[in-house]
Amino acid sequence: MATGIIGVGHYLPEDILTNKDLEKMVDTTDEWIRTRTGIETRHIAKNEESTFDLAYQAAINALAHANIEAEQLDMILVATVTADQSFPSLACQLQAKLGASQASAMDISAACSGFIYGVITAKQFIDGGVYKNILVIGADKLSKITDWTDRNTCVLFGDGAGAAIVSEVSEDKGILSFELGADGSGGNALHQEDNKIRMNGREVFKFAVRKMPESAEKVVEKAGFTKSDVDYLIPHQANVRIMEAARERLGLPKKKMAYSVNKYGNTSAASIPISLSEDVHEGKIKDGDLIVLVGFGGGLTWGAMTLRWGK
Ligand code: ACO
Repeated sequence: MATGIIGVGHYLPEDILTNKDLEKMVDTTDEWIRTRTGIETRHIAKNEESTFDLAYQAAINALAHANIEAEQLDMILVATVTADQSFPSLACQLQAKLGASQASAMDISAACSGFIYGVITAKQFIDGGVYKNILVIGADKLSKITDWTDRNTCVLFGDGAGAAIVSEVSEDKGILSFELGADGSGGNALHQEDNKIRMNGREVFKFAVRKMPESAEKVVEKAGFTKSDVDYLIPHQANVRIMEAARERLGLPKKKMAYSVNKYGNTSAASIPISLSEDVHEGKIKDGDLIVLVGFGGGLTWGAMTLRWGK
């Protein structure tokens, strides 16, 4: 047996903030935001809607898609940088609300790379025969740590959650290769200060356009494939120009890359699982497809994997 993903789900809060709305809040334009980032709208959670609420909805949807009960979960991993409290962890709160009485639970902090870190952590427990079903969630409510007076950052982010059930799959399916990395010396380029996101956009951009394509290419080689074998690319949805760099390196046509940054902005740890879930449910990803997932984020961190979709 191999380790793969048997179900996915996602959730986005209802309220939508458009570029035109942002024009009224800071000195920016719809044209600047669209041409520099590809973002047109983002979903923003209400004050009373917490990161926990987003994560819970995504979890319920993933459990239903995998057709398993919460009691069958052995572990819950939540990738987030916006947990409602530092402890108890969001994962423990979910364990209680879901009724996942058999599951151990912890949060993972790797910013936008968090979902990939989570899935690869889950894979170790399943490969080792320790656990059977692990719920991995990427959930962030960045709006609560966004400085809504800083045009350099406030136009970029949105709220949301995505989830996956990591389990045993048949030998020819599942996770075929991965890479995780970190460069803590670059941490200042994207960090939290006085409870707000601070970012050196140009530094992060330079890091991301180098790292995402490099990492995507590396995992394809590690799995023993060539670029022409890849059916679909899911890059972290931060900025369309960074995503395009990864797509071009793999030589894929535009329709073979997940693209939701226009609707949701950068949802941090949620961006990759939201795209995965949406594209699986819309039928863009089919049984047997070879998918590359690749992300980067604060830390600085990065992560990538190849995944043969299906059970
Ligand atoms: N509206 C209008 N002008 C703006 C805005 C805005 N919203 N934001 C910045 N500008 C201005 C800047 O002040 C600058 O003006 P100046 O030249 O007078 O100083 C000018 O636009 C150009 O700024 P650049 O930084 O050169 O613009 P760039 O083309 O690099 O685009 C951007 C900026 C979109 C932030 C880009 O650098 C980027 O995407 N960086 C990566 C950001 C990212 O992905 N962060 C998330 C990481 S994932 C995570 O862990 C959360």
